[in-house]
Amino acid sequence: MPTINNICFVFLLTVCAMASLSLASASASLKVGFYKSTCPSAEGIVRKAVNKAVSRNPGLAAGLIRMHFHDCFVRGCDASVLLDSTPGNQSEKENPANYPSLRGFEVIDEAKAELEAQCPQTVSCADIVAFAARDSAYKAGHINYDVPSGRRDGRVSLKGEPDGNLPAPTLKAEGLKDNFAKKGLSLDEMVTLSGAHSIGVAHCSAFSTDRLYEFNATHPQDPSMDPIFARYLKTKCPPRQNADDPDPTTVPLDVLTPTRLDNKYYKDLKHHHGLLTSDQTLLSSPSTAGIVRNHARHGTAWAKKFAAAMVKMGYIDVLTGSQGEIRRNCKVVN
Ligand code: HEM
Ligand SMILES: *[C@@H]1O[C@H](CO)[C@@H](O)[C@H](O)[C@H]1NC(C)=O
Ligand SMILES: *[C@@H]1O[C@H](CO)[C@@H](O)[C@H](O)[C@H]1NC(C)=O
Repeated sequence: MPTINNICFVFLLTVCAMASLSLASASASLKVGFYKSTCPSAEGIVRKAVNKAVSRNPGLAAGLIRMHFHDCFVRGCDASVLLDSTPGNQSEKENPANYPSLRGFEVIDEAKAELEAQCPQTVSCADIVAFAARDSAYKAGHINYDVPSGRRDGRVSLKGEPDGNLPAPTLKAEGLKDNFAKKGLSLDEMVTLSGAHSIGVAHCSAFSTDRLYEFNATHPQDPSMDPIFARYLKTKCPPRQNADDPDPTTVPLDVLTPTRLDNKYYKDLKHHHGLLTSDQTLLSSPSTAGIVRNHARHGTAWAKKFAAAMVKMGYIDVLTGSQGEIRRNCKVVN
C-alpha cells in the first residue's frame, strides 16, 4: 500500500533525475580524469611540455601558475586570457596587468599542438592552463594535486576586464579580502594563494613608487619595509620619471628561495622583506597576521592548503557541458 512517504520518495527521485539531466547538458561539474577515455594521454602531454619548458627556464613555472590565476579571476577559468586581439577588439592580453609581464603562452601552445595531433578538438585550453599550473607547482615545489577537468573555452576576451577583477598590488588586506570574496574565495584562501609569490618576479613598476619613493606626504619609503631591503631595491629600481618609461628590471618576489615554491615567502614577510604592498600587508593587518605566522611555521600544512585552494580557484565560473567550445588554437575562437 503506497504511503505518503513512498509517494514523496518517488516524487523526489523524479525531481533528482530531472535536475541531474539538466546539469549534464548545461552545467556539468568538473571531474578528475575527465579525459580518461577521450584522450588518455592528455595530462601526460601537458606535463611533458611543462617539464621541458621549466627545465630550460624555471621562471616559466611562476608564469604558468599566475596565468591560471589571471584566467580564473577574469570571466572564470575559460582561457579568455589566451585569446589574441582581433581587429577592433583588444583582448585581456593587452591589459597592463598582463602585458608585458604574463609569460608561458608558448608552453600552452606547444601542449595544445601535441594534443590536437593526438586527440583533435577534445581538450580545452582552459584545462590545459589548469593542468600546467599544477605541473608547475609540482616542478617548483613538489606540490601535487588532482585537477578536476572538463572546462570549456570562452569566446570573449576584453582588454578592460582585468581591471577590477584582478587585485592591484597596492591593495591592503581588506581590499584583497573583498576582491577574493567576489570570486568565492575566503580570507584564509587569499593568504594561502598569495604564497604563489614564493616564486617568480615583479617589475619595478609594480612596487617602486608606493613602497620606495612616494609612500605618503611625510614618508617617501614604506615603513613596513626593512630599510636595508629598501636600500637594496632602490639600487635595482631607480625612481621613474613618468609612467611611460621603460621598465625592464625585475626582482624576485621571494628573496630567500626565488625558484622554490615553498613557505619561505611567509618568512620573508616576517622579516619585512615582502615586495608588494599586497604582500607585506598580510603581516601588518591583524586579520591575516596569524595566518602568515602559521604558514611560516608549517610548510607542509601550507602546501596542502595551497593545493586545495588552487583546486577551488579552478572552479571559478567555469563553462562546462555544452557551454562554450573546445578551441582548436588557444589564441583564437573557432
Ligand atoms: C593577492 C593578490 C595578488 C596580487 C595583488 C598580485 C600581484 C602580482 C604582481 C603585481 C606581480 C608582478 C608582475 C610583474 O610585475 O611582473 C605578481 C606576480 C606573480 N603572481 Fe601575483 N598577485 C596576487 C595573487 C596571486 C595569486 C593568487 C597567484 C597564484 C595562485 C599569483 C601568482 C603570481 C606569480 C607566480 C607571480 C610571478 C610571475 C612571474 O614571475 O612571471 N599571484 N603578482
Ligand atoms: C569584440 O567586442 C565585441 C563588443 O565589445 C564583443 O561583443 C565581442 O564578443 C568581442 N569579440 C571577442 C572575440 O572578444
Ligand atoms: C605616513 O605614514 C606614516 C607611517 O604609517 C604615518 O605615521 C604618517 O602619519 C603618514 N603621513 C601622512 C601625511 O599620511
